[in-house]
This record gives sequence, structure tokens and C-alpha cells, in this order.
Amino acid sequence: MSAPPFPPELVRDVAKRRTFAIISHPDAGKTTLTEKLLLFGGAIQMAGTVKARKSARHATSDWMEVEKQRGISVTSSVMQFDYAGHTINLLDTPGHEDFSEDTYRVLTAVDAAVMVIDAAKGVEAQTIKLLEVCRLRNTPIITFVNKLDREVKPTVELLEEIESVLKIDCAPVTWPIGMGKNFRGVYHLLHDQTMLFQAGEEHAGGATELIEGLGNPKLDAMFPMEMGPTREEVELIQAASHPFDITAFLAGRQTPVFFGSGINNFGVREILQALVEWAPPPQQRDAGSRMVEPAEKPFTGFVFKIQANMDPKHRDRIAFFRVCSGRYSPGMKVQHQRMGREMKLGNALTFMANERVHMEDAVAGDIIGIHNHGQLQIGDTLTEGEALHFKGIPYFAPEMFRTARARDPLKSKQLQKGLKELGEEGAIQVFETTAGGALLLGAVGQLQFEVVAQRLATEYKVDALYDAADIHTARWLSFPDEATRRQFEKDQMLRMAQDVDGNPVYLATNRYNLELLMEKWPKVKFHATREHG
Ligand code: G4P
Repeated sequence: MSAPPFPPELVRDVAKRRTFAIISHPDAGKTTLTEKLLLFGGAIQMAGTVKARKSARHATSDWMEVEKQRGISVTSSVMQFDYAGHTINLLDTPGHEDFSEDTYRVLTAVDAAVMVIDAAKGVEAQTIKLLEVCRLRNTPIITFVNKLDREVKPTVELLEEIESVLKIDCAPVTWPIGMGKNFRGVYHLLHDQTMLFQAGEEHAGGATELIEGLGNPKLDAMFPMEMGPTREEVELIQAASHPFDITAFLAGRQTPVFFGSGINNFGVREILQALVEWAPPPQQRDAGSRMVEPAEKPFTGFVFKIQANMDPKHRDRIAFFRVCSGRYSPGMKVQHQRMGREMKLGNALTFMANERVHMEDAVAGDIIGIHNHGQLQIGDTLTEGEALHFKGIPYFAPEMFRTARARDPLKSKQLQKGLKELGEEGAIQVFETTAGGALLLGAVGQLQFEVVAQRLATEYKVDALYDAADIHTARWLSFPDEATRRQFEKDQMLRMAQDVDGNPVYLATNRYNLELLMEKWPKVKFHATREHG
């Protein structure tokens, strides 16, 4: 088959897109790196803006009370900026593990990820989980080892830890000279240059001082104590570690590793350079009946996240939509695949560092924010007519359950409406038990319950009460035939429920019972994850 005739300007614009997220364990330095990337990308003038935005939001948004009380970031957003002739989309993710479901969904919308590791702590729990999610789609990973201005673990040990714990090959691209008070800079293995470290540089304008060649006597004159060990280490890793291999990187098997200090702007430019030079542009995506190419003319994409109250002044909901092909233009008409009806895409938004901007143009890889009045759910596909359904946006089986009721019984309807909408938004999973009774809520993290209670109170004016539910986990079911289904449902009626989309779910009281049941019903499939839509 000959290649389809892609419009040349789409091919050109798609090739310039880089869409990525930063993954890390809380406190490794994700917010700091985000801010510095925006600073280098010219999206903000002065460091401090992202953090300031965080606290401004805390001050004005009441449903974020939970965030404020706990000092954590619950929400995630998207930022777009230009760098070196490329358009970069940075998708932020919530740092707290209780909101990991949200993060997992965001990771389905990126083409690459930057992994931040705190050099003093090494590989931490949340990083392991997030990397597993990236691995589901073989997402290419760039590694930034942060906080070299502190006393940190020996560098060779850190690399071994990343390789053995995360099961990914490391290709060091830069190598640190000293650490902590004696952190002098990094040696770039591919450019054979040393970049000298300067602490506390606030603006992106200043050029880093470069010294050519690792054997340069200038280095010995400046750093007599550090150069000996550094040269030995570099010799060792050049002999023993993996050289950077773009194919292995793009396949998600190898990660280029950079060292630096985010807070000091050091090593940030190299990350942006790696994104532009090595990270992939938008790729083809599985839309069920076929693969969709990013430079195809017809517009397609999917919703991966719904966010309420981004701006407390607006009290609105935004559906975050990843464009997978074609070109967005304001006012265009699209087909809502799940609802089977036409929709007008009016004032789509994008988000610069601290403000929302109307989007005039978007191609594959870009994220647009669509005002949502309940018509869009996570996993929804929009096209210009073709019946497609983008795959791979997961729901995870909840591990915590509560039943919910309204303190004032007259508000039960309001509670139901609120929970239905919050469930569609992905804030929590809502189940209706077959035996009837109270609504059942499932979460992956405890804080989800708190956020939902807060939002029910402020947005739906319902005071919700939670009660413990004797459920250990849930499994989505698929049956070989109707007869088995009817028999199973009859047999297990008291433990059956439906999710928001009407899919059958089994509620297990404990792992042992679940295993027994699975043995008893070998033809029934029990799924721990399910795709949206
Ligand atoms: P997160 O989003 O991953 O949770 O991390 P964040 O950027 O908020 O950074 C966590 C802490 O680590 C912050 O300190 C931040 O200043 C510090 N940090 C980030 N990068 C570096 C670095 O390169 N070197 C050093 N020494 N510290 C770094 P904090 O005290 O928790 O917050 P703050 O009072 O500085 O804002």
C-alpha cells in the first residue's frame, strides 16, 4: 500500500511537537524542574512563578482546602512553550501517590517522560510505580539526577540502583565532578566538554562556562582534588556502561542520564536539548479499528483527564484532550463517538505558565482544554466522523471502599448527582450494588475520599457521610457466554455491582475468597484494570 498523502504543513508541525510529563517521588524536585524548564523555555521570566501560582491557588480555591491543609499538589495541568524551534507540551501530574490514578491517565497522553531522581535518596517507591506505568506503553524516559549540590550517594551506585530496581539500562550523558559543597560541574561525555557549576543562578540568560576536553590542565588547576577521581570514574563508565543508543531509548529500554541541580538551574538546558533532539514527536496511536497517524488530515483525539475548578473564579470543568491527528481550529464541528452526536469545539484553551489562553491552532501532541458541561468523560474519542475509539486509558481496581450517604436524607438525590458527576470525572469510582442500598465509592488513595467530600460540600451543597465497607478489592468481569453470566450473577448476587458504565463488577471481601472464586469459575475472567469507554 502506498503511503497516504499527508498534508506537508501537518507533517512539518507534528515533527516539532514534544509532549512529555515529569515523573518523580514527592520532593525529588519536580516542581522546581518544571519551573526551570518554563524559565529556559521563556514561558516565565523569573523563577518562583510556578510555586507562587501554587500558593495563589491555595489562597483562593476553597475545594483545594485538602491541598492547603496537607501542603500537597492534587491537581495537574498542562503547559505549552516554545524551545529551539519546537513546541513543547509539559503535562504536570499530581505528586501525591493517592492521586496516582490521575497520573497514570496523564501518562497515556505523553510521548516521553523525564524522571527526576533525588541523588541523596536514589530510587523511591513512587518512581518505581510510575516507571511501571510508562513501561506499559514503552514510553521513552530521560533521567535527571537532581540535587548534586548536596551530599549524595556515590554516582556509580546510583546508576546501578536505577538499573537494578527500575530494570532499565542507563546511558550516562553527563557525569558530575564532585558533589555537595564541592560540586564543580558536569562533564558531557558526548561533547567532551565540562560545564562549570555556578550556584544560585536565577535567570536563564547566563551562559554556562565550558572547558573543552576532560584532560584539560585548566580543570586540574581549578579542581585539583576532584579531577583525579572524576577521570577514573569516567574511564570506568565509558568502558563498562551502555553508550547512548537512540533506538534503545525510543523503545523504552535505555535511559540517557543527566546530572544537575534544578534549584540552581544547572543541567536544565541539557534536558530540554535531549527532549528536542532525542524524544519522539507524536507517534501513531491505536484507535481500535486501526492505527491513526499523527499527520493524517482528519482531526482526532481523546479525553484523558477532567479537571474541575481550575480557576475558582470560573467554577468550570475542563476536559483535557490530546490531539492525535489533524488540526484543531476554533469552532470546528466534531463527532462525539460515545454519544454518537455532533459537538462544536468552541473556545478551546491552552495553559501558559499561569494563565489560560485561547487556542487558535493545535496539531497531534498538543493538549487542548475543552469546557465541559458533563458531555465529556475520560476516554471519550472525538473525530471528524470516522468511528474510532482510542485505547489504553486505564481504570485501576480500587483498594479502598466506603459507602456514602447524605447527612440530610432530603439531599440524597443531590448526593447521587454529585457522585455520578465526580465519578465521570475520574475523581473517584462509583459503584451501584446489585442488592441495592447505599452508593459504593472506590478509591486508590485515601485522600480521594477527602477531596470528594470537600467537593460535594462546596459544589453540590451536600454533607456526605462515609461508612466503612467490608470490601477488599474489586474485579471487572467478562463472561464466555450469557448462560455463565446469568448463573454467576445469581450465585454471587450479594457481591455484585455495576460501575458507572454499567459493567459487571465483583466485590471481594478478601484475597483468599477471590482466589477461591476464580478457581471455581475458571471460564470467567477477573480483570484488575479496565479501559475507559
Ligand atoms: P516536588 O515537586 O518533586 O515535590 O519537589 P520540589 O520541586 O517542591 O522540591 C522539593 C524540595 O527540594 C524543595 O525544598 C526544593 O527547593 C528542593 N530542591 C529542588 N531541587 C533542588 C536542588 O537541586 N538542590 C537542592 N539542594 N534542593 C533542591 P523545600 O525546602 O521543601 O521547599 P522550598 O522551601 O525550597 O520551596
